[in-house]
Amino acid sequence: MKKICILGAGGFIGSHLVKKLIRTSEFNITCVDITKQKIEKIAGSKGFNFVNLDIRKSGDDFESLIKESDIVIDLIAYANPDLYIKIPLKVVELNLFENLKVADYCEKYNKWLIQFSTCEVYGKSDGSTNPLNPDTSDCILGPIRNQRWIYSCAKQLLERMLYAKGVYNNLQYTIIRPFNFVGPEMDFLVEDNSKDIPRVFPGFISSLLKGFSMKIVDMGENYRTWTYIDDAIDAIYLILKNEKQVRNEILNIGSYGNEIKVYELAILMKEIFEQITNKKIYECIEFVDGEKFYGKGYEDCDRRIPDTFKLNELGWKANYNLYDTMHTTINYYVKNYS
Ligand code: NAD
Ligand code: UGA
Repeated sequence: MKKICILGAGGFIGSHLVKKLIRTSEFNITCVDITKQKIEKIAGSKGFNFVNLDIRKSGDDFESLIKESDIVIDLIAYANPDLYIKIPLKVVELNLFENLKVADYCEKYNKWLIQFSTCEVYGKSDGSTNPLNPDTSDCILGPIRNQRWIYSCAKQLLERMLYAKGVYNNLQYTIIRPFNFVGPEMDFLVEDNSKDIPRVFPGFISSLLKGFSMKIVDMGENYRTWTYIDDAIDAIYLILKNEKQVRNEILNIGSYGNEIKVYELAILMKEIFEQITNKKIYECIEFVDGEKFYGKGYEDCDRRIPDTFKLNELGWKANYNLYDTMHTTINYYVKNYS
């Protein structure tokens, strides 16, 4: 049985991935994280081992975990735009330098590294509706003073380092660029005017559940393409099962058809919430300025649509359209948090 070491297993994507892999019973799984709240319920499962470890403070113990594994999946990162403005240096330290150490260990012990990057490496698309191709599309970022891009830039440099290590040092890697996954247990719920800001779905669902306004940044004019977490996990599983085809490749994971403007997403979520709860919601929208909401240096990605030809060749297709994605996720939150 192959041994997988999942770094960041206690997070949103990690917790869903671990649950899927435990169900298949095909792998021996070691989970590494500084929190295990989201995977607490499966802690006793067969083939599951949790190691509470902060990769910034670890040494030989961490290296040994990688040495003993066959496959390393690295999900560790600060992945929330609020943090790109508040702690940009820590974002680079974790998302680039700490993750590079993981790549070094994988190179040293000849392990297959599946590295989570982001669709944000594509940066700005100037409104283009062309699907973004991981091998040919440009990566265009805003000015340095707009700190938001530091996350994208750190992830991009990590990708470039892995690519070069693949060419010159024979590192075996696969890079995944997720496009706005959404589903149960994403980030955290908040109160009104909380100092920590989650990503948009948990922010909006907190408002609907707790009765304060959804904050729409810069009129909600930008677009996102939403991917239901189960579809995303199916894609990751296919990647794991097709090692040869995805070796030293970069793949997008995203649901091409699930695009919507942020303002329209707020309206859609409100309508679905009303249907599920049978309650009418009034005055639930507040428009906010991006730099006032997140801080100076916030600039947004305008539009990003994934080209998933590599996944489709592996037999992947999304099962959840936008409505089903939102309905299933909102239903989960209403059942569990209201
Ligand atoms: P998440 O924040 O829920 O998970 C990250 C996990 O890493 C957390 O559980 C956190 O505790 C852990 N972690 C952070 N610092 C650590 C450290 N020093 N030592 C050990 N563990 C540490 O994020 P996510 O949404 O699950 O995203 C996972 C990865 O996918 C990230 O690399 C992110 O950039 C990328 N990504 C996610 C999305 C998405 O839609 N969720 C989109 C694009 C990219
Ligand atoms: C995020 C993060 O950068 C990464 O986790 C990841 O790479 C990427 O998502 C992804 O999931 O693919 P972004 O899409 O900007 O980037 O994250 P959100 O915070 O979910 O914001 C989406 C949009 O909603 C933005 O236009 C933002 O301005 C807006 N927003 C966000 C609001 O209008 N209100 C809010 O309360 C929060």
